[in-house]
Amino acid sequence: MTGASPMRAVRLVRSGGSVVPRVVEVPAPAPPTGSQVLVRVAASSVNGTDLGLLRGGRSFRALGGGRVAPGFDLAGQVVACGPAVTGFAVGDRVMALIGHTGGAMAELVLLPQHRTARAPRTVDLEQAAAIPLAGLTALQALHGRGALHVRTAPRVLVVGAAGGIGAYAVQLARLAGASVTALADPARADLLHDLGADDVLDRHRDDVLAAGRRWDVVLDAPGALRFAAVRPALTDDGVLVSTRPLSPDRLRALRPGGGPRATAVATRRSPVDLAYLAHLVDTGRLRVPLDRVVPLEDVASALGHAGSGRLRGKVVVSLADRPG
Ligand SMILES: NC(=O)c1ccc[n+]([C@@H]2O[C@H](COP(=O)([O-])OP(=O)(O)OC[C@H]3O[C@@H](n4cnc5c(N)ncnc54)[C@H](OP(=O)(O)O)[C@@H]3O)[C@@H](O)[C@H]2O)c1
Repeated sequence: MTGASPMRAVRLVRSGGSVVPRVVEVPAPAPPTGSQVLVRVAASSVNGTDLGLLRGGRSFRALGGGRVAPGFDLAGQVVACGPAVTGFAVGDRVMALIGHTGGAMAELVLLPQHRTARAPRTVDLEQAAAIPLAGLTALQALHGRGALHVRTAPRVLVVGAAGGIGAYAVQLARLAGASVTALADPARADLLHDLGADDVLDRHRDDVLAAGRRWDVVLDAPGALRFAAVRPALTDDGVLVSTRPLSPDRLRALRPGGGPRATAVATRRSPVDLAYLAHLVDTGRLRVPLDRVVPLEDVASALGHAGSGRLRGKVVVSLADRPG
């Protein structure tokens, strides 16, 4: 199934006045060239980024008229290698974060080998698919942007802690020796304590940031907070790390003279970081927080559940063949 033969893939289509995900047939990728690997996708996870495509009020045209598709990460098995591939062989289990136009919810995907990492050995590919985008974002936000690894006994607040990025961030902060506060719906407190949160604060209360507590790193996974609101809750060298690009308001707050600051993470497709996350999983130090696995045909319900406000970790869309 390569070249002109069709494969199943999720694309955004116009339906009535809205943009909806649909499983359609599209041409399979051409055989790999150079250092590309062709991957048979076992699963792809739902991320806030997919929900943003549907919710963001962007027109079908603004979404590239179908060129941007859901699915920004995947796990699967290598089925063909370009002639210059040295690091992978047919049959290898891999995972990857793919580029800005998405399209990982497809039976076959071509990847450059330098953006591809081995999947952890100890979990199945559906779990592995839940790692790349959320796991990389949490890791790069906390350690890259938040400099967690050079802080002593840091205190970390994770906003959106029961979502994809948040559930990894709670664990990674804990692994870095931080005391971890999770901001989430209290209905998820059991999950968050299990993942390593010391305390869980109610995201529906509006006095959390003004209650006099201070944190060294505040990771705002949903990108919901303004720096002005977070600033009183940051220590003197504290930092707000947001997943949302900095607005002029936040940039103005970045004063060269020191004091709390704000920054944003832009997730990099680093196979070294992915290998590190796989190592943490294989050594039992990082759990893949799976909410549910949904078959490809039910992609619309997978996206609906992920955006329902009842999330407990990651939703994964499976492309595995099912009996019957
Ligand atoms: N900058 C980058 O490179 C980058 C990379 C990856 C993702 N992102 C962005 O990061 C965001 C989060 O991604 P994700 O995959 O973690 O999403 P997700 O799995 O949907 O989780 C988001 C979590 O945030 C919670 N939440 C939403 N609004 C909140 C608020 N006002 N206060 C507190 N909690 C709130 C949600 O809780 P409920 O379920 O209770 O609503 C949910 O648990 C998305 O917008 C995505 O586009 C950016």
